[in-house]
Amino acid sequence: MKCQAYPGEDALAAALGRIILDTIRRLPAVVLGLPTGRTPLGLYAELARLTALEQPDWSEVRTFNLDEFVGLAPSDSGSYRAFMQERLFHHVNIRPEHIGFLDGVAEDADAECGRYERAIAAVGGIDLMVLGIGANGHIGFNEPGKTLAARTHLVTLDAPTRAANALWFDGDVTRVPRQALTMGMATILAARAIVLIATGETKAEAVRAMLYGGVTTAVPASFLQLHPQVNVMLDQSLADQLA
Ligand code: PGA
Repeated sequence: MKCQAYPGEDALAAALGRIILDTIRRLPAVVLGLPTGRTPLGLYAELARLTALEQPDWSEVRTFNLDEFVGLAPSDSGSYRAFMQERLFHHVNIRPEHIGFLDGVAEDADAECGRYERAIAAVGGIDLMVLGIGANGHIGFNEPGKTLAARTHLVTLDAPTRAANALWFDGDVTRVPRQALTMGMATILAARAIVLIATGETKAEAVRAMLYGGVTTAVPASFLQLHPQVNVMLDQSLADQLA
């Protein structure tokens, strides 16, 4: 895994925003895998800013988000679909039919997960997957455990993960759904290239385990060591903790 530190969150967001826009110019029909969370907020603000400035064409771009809460409709303000609409999709000329998302209110979760896998396969797989990392080492909502699921599946969220997501629900952890649908480890690892972004000292332990520990289901992100094309982008405050 290649690892690069940036002076701060803004510099990291600027660098990755540039990489993504360059990729769209080079490969107009690129398939992006996208994360939600606090970490990519700067990235999406930068993509919106650069898009307003430079007018890149997103009309052939396709996206697949990593995960979605169970029980929240796309119109629910706490849903990741709503997060993405507000932060990115609203600001670029992506076609609604090119936005891949797990449906948190699907009646049959297994069928919905199968549909998602087929939709990704039907467009030839994900070219560039952007990931965050949880303080517990999760990627997507693949939580640490005795085993990890390979493909898109239903998960029960860990207590720390629900606590970390309370900020999207006015700080009220009781409103954070208990379950989610997430891409699995194989879905993520099948992407042709992966960029993982992490900022702040609270992620240092997880990033250290991901980079320097063994491959273990106790740290799902450690499986990225098996992938030939992973770039890890950190801010300096986190990188300092690794030194
Ligand atoms: P965060 O989440 O960016 O809100 O810290 C990252 C993640 O859990 O993958």
